[in-house]
Amino acid sequence: MRLWQRSMIALARSRAVTEFMHGSRVVRPFSRRLVGGGNAAEAIETAQELAQRSIATSLFFLGEYVDSEELVRENVEALLQAVPAMAKAGLPLHVSVDPTQIGSMLSWSLCRENAFCIARAVADAAAAHPLAQARTPGPALMLDMEDASVNRETLALYHDLRQEGLPAAVTIQSYLHRSMDDLKELAAGGAFVRLVKGAFAESPAIAHTVRSARDASYKTAVNLLFAPESRENGVYPALGTHDHAMIAYAAEVAAKNGWRRDQWEIEMLYGVRPAYQRRLVDEGFCLRLYLPFGRSWWPYSIRRIGETPRNLAFVLRAAVGA
Ligand code: FDA
Repeated sequence: MRLWQRSMIALARSRAVTEFMHGSRVVRPFSRRLVGGGNAAEAIETAQELAQRSIATSLFFLGEYVDSEELVRENVEALLQAVPAMAKAGLPLHVSVDPTQIGSMLSWSLCRENAFCIARAVADAAAAHPLAQARTPGPALMLDMEDASVNRETLALYHDLRQEGLPAAVTIQSYLHRSMDDLKELAAGGAFVRLVKGAFAESPAIAHTVRSARDASYKTAVNLLFAPESRENGVYPALGTHDHAMIAYAAEVAAKNGWRRDQWEIEMLYGVRPAYQRRLVDEGFCLRLYLPFGRSWWPYSIRRIGETPRNLAFVLRAAVGA
């Protein structure tokens, strides 16, 4: 599985493959299922349709692994335009960002500068449009967590944004051995944390690589996030998973420890397990979908195939028109 994941991540990072795939039709039907629109206006329309079904969203502009200043600028511009448009449409403000899309491959200081700029835009748009901050947990710039080489910098960036009073949230990968310590610190500070299993092919020296150990680490992290003290500290847990066993476990721990359903949420990727998503909403859970938009669909789509090889069958069926 790690070899498969590593290969898919290499394909996602290859500029030549990305250019080729953007010109081909093979994976496009699969990516259409996962992408909420070609531009911000289309994504906001999709977000409004989802909001009517009581599903919140986090906008994500497609364009990860970017190593040119021009493309970084384009990515940041796209988000700076999408944020006020989302607020104006009365949608709760939540955007997700990968460090590699806003400059971390060029320099960490450029990435920081851009993250501050986007977080300020989120804060300003929320202040100008009260509806945009109506729903718990309030407006947020969610920092996605990429591979372990940028883990420390991403966490430091989160803490710096919070120190400036900006609406930041951060993703923690339960598979990393260091994550429990990170989570303890975040829980003590009352953070908005998205807990995921982790999507990169990390070495066993720093991460759990066997499925059973990864799932066990997720449950340990759930216990910490949903401890009664975490709620008292103001923690807002978001479970970034499609795994019904993890969600059922967390719901049980949450209920046992006195968490109301509106004090935490489940986050899933747009287009993944839609019937299950509907069921969760019908059962009264708060659900947010990670909603990618833009034209650079290849790196995002191939990473999803890396996470779930079954998605390859979908692509192949689409390619032969079956
Ligand atoms: P698991 O892999 O066990 O899957 C459970 C079930 O869901 C299976 O039936 C599986 O087939 C199905 N499923 C899962 N993923 C699917 C997919 N892509 N397509 C189709 N079916 C799928 N990781 C990271 O390292 N950094 C990050 O910042 C983020 N951010 C993030 C945000 C959100 C909102 C989500 C949902 C996920 C992430 N991830 C992430 C990815 C995460 O780490 C993990 O790799 C995937 O969610 C897959 O693991 P699951 O927990 O869903 O369980």
